[in-house]
Amino acid sequence: MKKALIIYATRTQNTKGIAELIAEGLRMSGVEAKLLNASDKEIEDLNFEEYDALVLGSATYHGEMMQSMKTLLFKLEKDNLEGKVGGAFGAFGWSGEAPDRIFDTMANVFNMKMVRGTLRLKSPKLQEAIQMAREYGKEIAQKMNEQETNMTDPL
Ligand SMILES: Cc1cc2nc3c(=O)[nH]c(=O)nc-3n(C[C@H](O)[C@H](O)[C@H](O)COP(=O)(O)O)c2cc1C
Repeated sequence: MKKALIIYATRTQNTKGIAELIAEGLRMSGVEAKLLNASDKEIEDLNFEEYDALVLGSATYHGEMMQSMKTLLFKLEKDNLEGKVGGAFGAFGWSGEAPDRIFDTMANVFNMKMVRGTLRLKSPKLQEAIQMAREYGKEIAQKMNEQETNMTDPL
């Protein structure tokens, strides 16, 4: 079974709610999904290379991602994430810069294989948002499967 790791940074739990919905979408597509808060101690001992996909999210405060996500991105620079599937998300109020900054770092610094864009939602409670977040999880799963197909394609 393919494995995805979702890590979120949140203050009032909206980004956590989005993370849970993305995990549901991944699980519906047969992917094992693990969720962690970016400030969770467990992160220090994780082997990121065990996962086929990494999905990172942060709420936006004062135009920026939260400090725990910034710290995590610097930590991840030391891991080899090249070619793994990636996605970025977050709750926002009006400008929502955090998911874009995370996405660009994953694409340009970690050289990950990113899904088509970020997922930015104002609340994980609205029906439309629930659907969009689950859909994002399914898209990530699809990209993980595409990757497998490409790897087994004859040259
Ligand atoms: C002090 C403060 C600053 C904020 N700054 C921004 C901002 O610069 N851009 C934005 O889009 N939303 C901003 N927001 C809104 C939050 O991103 C929004 O409430 C979001 O749902 C919080 O997500 P969380 O529950 O995961 O912490 C701000 C909220 C507060 C309280």
